[in-house]
Amino acid sequence: MSTSTDQSRFENLRAQAEILDGEDELRHLRDEFHIPTKAEIKRKTLEQQPQQQEQQQKDRNDPALADETTTPCTYLCGNSLGLQPKRTATRINQYLQTWSTQGVQGHFKPLDDSPLPTWLDADARAAKLMSPIVGADESEVAVMQTLTANLHLLMSAFYRPDPKGRHKIILESKAFPSDHYAVLSQIRHHGLSPNTSMVTIESPYSEDNLITTYDIQSIISKHASDTALILLPGIQYYTGQLLDIPTITAFAHKHDIFVIWDLAHAVGNVPLSLHDWDVDAAAWCTYKYLNGGPGCIGGMFINSRNSLVTTTLTDEQPERGYGKRLSGWWGNDKGTRFQMDPRFHPVKGAAGFQLSNPSILDITSLSASLEVIELAGGVSTLREKSKKLTAFLEHSISFLSEDAKQLFRVITPSDPEQRGAQLSILLADNLLHPVMKEFQKSGVIVDERQPNVVRVAPAPLYNSFADCVAFAEAFEAALIASQDAL
Ligand SMILES: Cc1ncc(COP(=O)(O)O)c(C=O)c1O
Repeated sequence: MSTSTDQSRFENLRAQAEILDGEDELRHLRDEFHIPTKAEIKRKTLEQQPQQQEQQQKDRNDPALADETTTPCTYLCGNSLGLQPKRTATRINQYLQTWSTQGVQGHFKPLDDSPLPTWLDADARAAKLMSPIVGADESEVAVMQTLTANLHLLMSAFYRPDPKGRHKIILESKAFPSDHYAVLSQIRHHGLSPNTSMVTIESPYSEDNLITTYDIQSIISKHASDTALILLPGIQYYTGQLLDIPTITAFAHKHDIFVIWDLAHAVGNVPLSLHDWDVDAAAWCTYKYLNGGPGCIGGMFINSRNSLVTTTLTDEQPERGYGKRLSGWWGNDKGTRFQMDPRFHPVKGAAGFQLSNPSILDITSLSASLEVIELAGGVSTLREKSKKLTAFLEHSISFLSEDAKQLFRVITPSDPEQRGAQLSILLADNLLHPVMKEFQKSGVIVDERQPNVVRVAPAPLYNSFADCVAFAEAFEAALIASQDAL
């Protein structure tokens, strides 16, 4: 393999990227985000120490290093953690100011000049901002807890196994480990054994673990009579494959099986129409394409038919008037929540599955980032750019030298309708570690999944076409530098 990159190939690409970025009507949104500089991502301290500031000043005068202190890094990791919107700090400061000046009154006292809802209404406002992102009525969405906790809450409500009838849960064999653990523990929690109650979907014809709708339907048909629940990802975290949510949901329904979708990698990435697709229930996190911040509060969708409340508190046995669930006071009807009645009477809709009063710090952070998505015109608008960006990333990678291309393969489907923003790149054995080290040196942030995959996800809110070329160049250089590991 040659030991240097051919600049002219990338010059052409850079010129194409400049045109595409110039035409991009969403490019102003990048200014809504903090994009770390190359120097910042190499920093080892939170604040710059005086001697580092001095050094930085010197670096600025050295043309070779000036670049690092001012050039943004190439951040293509929104599939793992989205970047921080600038308005997050503004909204959090407004929340902190409310708390510091109002104390407990912040729960119910609106402030005339504040854009924030009272804390009692913060969950409802977040659900309202979230509902168009997942294609649901706002009453079908609850912003609460975190993803794995919400999967457990959904299973506690909708997985009611009958050991002599329907007791199995179907999931994919390469499911995100947390989903796997959640299913295992739910089965055991009901006194059943995963050996007999858990069914995994393999991908028999794909060495890259892509699963077809047909693979999934075949497993459903085979276990139709004794399956109680299916748990599937909207987008598979490792391969980036987008599953056909409406077709699979309809097929499961034909067999009377309830489906829960894990939308961690789909939400904010591809348009979703959960209500129109007749999805039963779904859960997601908000720290990837929704940019809520690490570990931020999650979201849950429950189809309105699964969250009906048919009685009033005065009826004789109100607990018969709604579906079983694990309950807490925040799920109680708002009108009676503060009457401190020991009888639980849920509000109808997904909000009736809430347990605790939500962290306002979290919900404020999330709502700030959802404002940016609203500003962008919603997920459908973002998706148009996203398709172009990911196609351009694929195109940029195809410009790598023939030698370099021997060392990797994109495993994400090439059909844009079967993927979101992410491309998963499978490297030759032993290259993952050295390639990631080279990326660090060149200021490229992507994420790795053992044993051999690099996941690269241009996010339409803040990534540019130029980022795709920067990645391709750094990737070729990283492969050249890592040859010794082969
Ligand atoms: C597909 C998928 N499911 C579940 C999880 C677990 O999420 P949490 O830690 O928020 O429960 C993740 C985390 O990245 C994920 O990607």
